[in-house]
Amino acid sequence: MLTWDAFSEPDVQLPADVIAAESSEDSSPDPKPRRKKEAGQEGRTGQKRQTGQVEEQTAQPIRPEDKRVINGLTDINQLAPFKYPWAWKYFLNANKNHWTPLDINMSQDVYDYKHKLTDTEKHLYENVLAYLTTSDILAMRNIGLAVMEKMTAPELQIYQARQVYEEALHTWTYQHCIETLGLDQGEIYNRYRMVPAINQKIQIANTRISSILRTDIDLNDPDELNNFIVAYVFFAAVFEGCWFYNGFSPIFSFQRRGLMKGTAEQLQYIMRDEVLHCGFGIRTVSQIIMENDIKLDLSAIREMWDEAEAAEADYARYILRDPVLGYSAESHIEHFRFIANRRAKQLGFEAPFPGAQCALPWLDEQANIRKEKNFFETRVTEYQAGGLNWD
Ligand SMILES: [Fe+2]
Ligand SMILES: [Fe+2]
Repeated sequence: MLTWDAFSEPDVQLPADVIAAESSEDSSPDPKPRRKKEAGQEGRTGQKRQTGQVEEQTAQPIRPEDKRVINGLTDINQLAPFKYPWAWKYFLNANKNHWTPLDINMSQDVYDYKHKLTDTEKHLYENVLAYLTTSDILAMRNIGLAVMEKMTAPELQIYQARQVYEEALHTWTYQHCIETLGLDQGEIYNRYRMVPAINQKIQIANTRISSILRTDIDLNDPDELNNFIVAYVFFAAVFEGCWFYNGFSPIFSFQRRGLMKGTAEQLQYIMRDEVLHCGFGIRTVSQIIMENDIKLDLSAIREMWDEAEAAEADYARYILRDPVLGYSAESHIEHFRFIANRRAKQLGFEAPFPGAQCALPWLDEQANIRKEKNFFETRVTEYQAGGLNWD
């Protein structure tokens, strides 16, 4: 039987065939150049350490001004001094919104769903959940698998690590709602495959992830970098900043009528996270653009907005085949355009939909709500003692 002691024995010998295999790997030519940013292997000058130089190189302090968001050569295991204190502040702020779906009372939602919602409203509620739950898994995979490993400053990676957790928490939240209401999980979770209007949005995001989730990607290549930036803009400004931001609003419209208030409270907590994800992403992309000599492909950005608008319109007309009280497909689509203009402005881009009107004037208020009169109050106020900026 193996014990931990076996692994600490200094004279444990590897079998001969293992030694042979390892030494032949060492001597074989490297088929591809190694990544340039292997942490701890390169000094701040970018020169690989040679044998005998390790002590001298290790002793050199990291200069924050040498850090880069991507393609950096500094040691990514050293957090401070910060070059990007704003990223660290995002992490601190994110930790003020600490909750789990089990904290929220869903009993009234069970009653509302069974006895108060019309068939049209049930169709809307279920499809919003079906879309959101698949979307949050995509968001988790994007930031955790495709984006985070390309960052070369630890303060950014640390916030993104928190973001990965939050996306998983959001998925748990939707599952909690679906389970609590006794919805058919096999049916709900398959809707993104079966319903073209939902599938279309998911596939747009999937295509973006696939284009940057490749082992051979090299962000020193201008075309690759451009594609990475557009993908990051898509996830931060469209997927999280518009599709999520706007995507909760049908449930908030129920909440305004005193219906499905538990679900809506859950979504308010998620929305707080998503606003931070969007803000962080926009800030990160702006920093990448600033640090690199980039001529962004504006036609790709234009296509992104147009594709997002068309998909959102199809989705809205499916989930709102018939309007519900105080909410319609057209108001949903128009508000998407309005929020898209806001995100473009934050990015320093021109408004993609000039003249779009604020069709849901109550939505920002819903996003900013401070939880003043429910059982959350003590807890959330306590966690948010530092205050959050939702703009
Ligand atoms: Fe999320
Ligand atoms: Fe997110």
